[in-house]
This record gives sequence, structure tokens and C-alpha cells, in this order.
Amino acid sequence: MIKPSIRRVGRALLAVGATAALSLGLLTATAGTSQAATQGPCDLYRAGGTPCVAAHSTTRALYGAYSGPLYQVRRASDNATRNIGLLSTGGYADAAAQDSFCAGTGCVITVLYDQSGRGNHLTQAPAGGAAGGPDNLANAFEAPVTVGGHKAYGVYVAPGTGYRNNNTNGIATGDQPEGMYAIFDGTHFNGGCCFDYGNAETNNLDTGNGHMEALYFGDNRSWGSGSGNGPWVMADLENGLFSGVNRGPNANDPSVNNRFLTAMLKGGPNQWALRGGDARSGGLSTFYSGARPNATGYNPMHKEGAIILGIGGDNSKWAQGTFYEGVMTQGYPSDATENAVQANITAAGYTSGSTGTGTLTPGSRISLRATTAPCCTSHYLRHDDADTKVVISDTNSSSSATDKADATWIVRAGLADSSCVSFESANNPGRFLHHYNYELYLDFDNGAGSFAQDSTFCPTGGNSGTGTSFQSVNFPTKYLRHYNYTAYIASNGGSNSWDSSASWAADTSWLVAQPWG
Ligand code: AHR
Repeated sequence: MIKPSIRRVGRALLAVGATAALSLGLLTATAGTSQAATQGPCDLYRAGGTPCVAAHSTTRALYGAYSGPLYQVRRASDNATRNIGLLSTGGYADAAAQDSFCAGTGCVITVLYDQSGRGNHLTQAPAGGAAGGPDNLANAFEAPVTVGGHKAYGVYVAPGTGYRNNNTNGIATGDQPEGMYAIFDGTHFNGGCCFDYGNAETNNLDTGNGHMEALYFGDNRSWGSGSGNGPWVMADLENGLFSGVNRGPNANDPSVNNRFLTAMLKGGPNQWALRGGDARSGGLSTFYSGARPNATGYNPMHKEGAIILGIGGDNSKWAQGTFYEGVMTQGYPSDATENAVQANITAAGYTSGSTGTGTLTPGSRISLRATTAPCCTSHYLRHDDADTKVVISDTNSSSSATDKADATWIVRAGLADSSCVSFESANNPGRFLHHYNYELYLDFDNGAGSFAQDSTFCPTGGNSGTGTSFQSVNFPTKYLRHYNYTAYIASNGGSNSWDSSASWAADTSWLVAQPWG
């Protein structure tokens, strides 16, 4: 846990150093802070007079002097939990601790700790007005990343996943000013409501216009939109995602899809602003800065001070996205402070995780072609629209767009082991290929104990000497196989009909092909 006395001393020193650093345009190295050689975003906000009152990250410390835990994981095998901390004070996450604790079983993220010392931790969101609960917890392996050369994991929000804190300390209420930023994966989004991070209702209900002030990311067009086809950074102010002064389109809010995206929002009495940029380089652009919406309820605001991640204020939980870090401040940060924070973010060094296995790189789209001749070499693994089963079927350039999309998969880091892979449906986001009773199905990651393992496959050389075979992580003698045009995990000889040794090697060998969809 955070060490308050050290934190106070460190912060005092950092505040002095950070002020100097800001005025000199320097963003690292604070003289006299031996335990905090670098500054975090919250040191910069503090120096700017708008301190963080919540600071969440699974990848790094957000204060130069922070030495406590970043997040907690719970493993499937025995429900034991473990805090994941830092490699060093003010440094990066100790991802190896997660890897060893969760090895071979899979973990979910149970707590995102607040580094500000105010206890504004995020935990599993409860049911709300729009949807039941509790919401799912994020799979701890699903968003691997490298930060500053160190392996870390983000928070992968599949539809149905959500975190919340309704009993906060220091978060803005009413019309009080606040700021916030988050780093998202700009390539992971959808149009569902609402992938949010920020201020929301304390009772999980939609209590009316102006009762929220949260960052939104995605391509939902129900209330507002920006230029192009999205996704956009918008402000969820309740009963509306705002891209500009009022509901509707705002041409100045651009489509942004940087792999690592900085999104910023701030709001005070009759003013608010949206800003964003590439979290890997460059500065921030201002998408909107001006007056509050003129519809009833937004001026003055009625902020309630809860914190949400991945969901809307009323627990609308149909959105998806990935979160790496974010903070909320007391007071309306200046543009200069936010620019300094952006410089700190770009200096942190976010790059994609390096868990790729050949062409099976997380994030890439592929199709999987069967290799068994003569029946099946033009057949591809696909989900079956008639039910949730997974089959192979002939797919070619004349196939319908739906058939092609059904035969297309997005490679994800293995849900139970990031050195292996999982397959997410390209046209059913959030649904994964997984086995149940040794048959393969497409279903949502419900965060349940066995789902992660049942959805994780370790690529090996093709059992026939051709292509790639996919070994089930929890049944290592069984491989992804087609049998009678239906998909299973199968051993070479066994009690099930699909374990037949005839054609086993070919049936379990696949060619990783260009995506159909
Ligand atoms: O403002 C958009 C959404 O509308 C909010 O997140 C949710 O509470 C309501 O359904």
C-alpha cells in the first residue's frame, strides 16, 4: 500500500521540482528526490494547482514517489487474489508477478487501486438502471502492452465488463471544476453505450442531464458525433455524448484511432473542453473548448462524484475498449499543465505488446484454413449463424460478406496465457472461440473461472508437418480439430468420436490465411 509519510515528503519535494520543471519545460528528473527520480502525471497536475484525486493505472506509477500496488488479480483455480505492484518506486508494473501467479489458470482484474491516496479504488460495478449486474471483470491477460521497455497489461473491457466506485473522496460534485485524462487503445471500440471513464451517478441510475462528466471513446452516434466515421473522443454528460457545445455532429471533433490514444476532458462553471492526441508522440489538439450545452440540466452541472470505467452512468454495458491509465483532478487544469502531462505520457514509451507468434500477432485479423485433402482444403473455420457452434465451410471470393466475416477472427493474447492466443469473432466483437464439453462454441467472455482457459490455444508446428496446430491450454493432449465439418478439441485417439486417429494430424493442422473479412 502507499506509504503516506513517504508520499507526503515526496510530494512536497516533487511539487517544488515540478513547478520548476513546468516553467523550464523539463518533464523528468527532479533534483533532490532520490526515491523519485522521475515525475508522474499527477506530480505535474499538482504543480499546476489541480491535484489528482483519483489515479488508476495497470501499467505504471502516476506519481514519481508512488510505491504501492497498481491492481489486484484473482485467479480462476482457487479464487486467490494478489496485488500487482511496481518494479521500482515511480516505475512500471511488475507484470511477471501476474504471469507467475496466474500461470496455467487465468486471472481477472478485481481492483484498480487509486494512487492518489484518497482510496478511490475501482472494483466490480453493480447492477444499474440500464442493465443487471454485477458486471464482468476484465481478463488480466487480454491487453498486453510494453511501456518503457517493460511488459505490462491494460484493462480489456469486453461488452458486459465494468468497474465503479460510488463512495469516493474528493471527486467533483455539482458544478465544481475537474479535469481528467485516460489512455485508451484507439483501435478497440464499438458503438455500444458507453465506454466511459470519469464522473457518474452514485446510485447507478440515470438521474438526469448533467449528472455525469466522463470521457467517452467509441463510434456511438445516438447523441453526438465528430467528423468522419469515428471513433471519437466525446464527453458523456448524461443523456448525451457531446462532441461539441450541443448534441449532434461537431466537425472539429476528429476521428481518432491511434493505437495509444490520449483523451482529455475538463469541466467547470459554464465551460468545458475536450482534447486528445497520440499517446506515443506529439502534442494535444483541442477538439472543443467553450460553453456548456444549452439544454436543461447542463449549466450548472449536477455532478455526483462516482467514478466509472467501461460503462455508462446507469450501467449501460454494451461498449468495449481498453484502458491503460487515467486520472481525475480537483480544479480545471490549464492547457499548459495538460500539455506537460501529454509530454510525460509520450515519454513513458507505450508500444504494443510483443507476445506475437509469427503471423498470429495480437490484434491482427486472420482466417484459418483446413488442410485435410481432398475434402476440406477450401474450408475455413467459422461460426455458424444457426447456433453458437463452430464449423468449417467452403469459403471463397464469391461467398457472401456475412460468410466471409463469419470466417474471420481477431487474434488476441491468450485469455489464460499471453504467450498463447485466443480468437475473437471479427463480426461478433466480444465473443470468443472456446470449448465446452470438448465442442467449440462462440460466446462472450463472461469472466467465469474456466472461460479463459477454454478459450486459450497454444500454437505449435502443424501436427501433419503443415501449417500450425492449436493446443488447448487446459487439455494439452487435445488440439483444435474439425471432424465431420464441426469443430472440437480432440486427442489422437480417445473416447469421443472426434478423437478418431484417422486424419487426426491433418484435421488438427491449419493454415493461417489472409482474413476473408
Ligand atoms: O449519456 C449517455 C448515457 O445515457 C449514459 O452513460 C447513461 O447513463 C445513459 O443511458
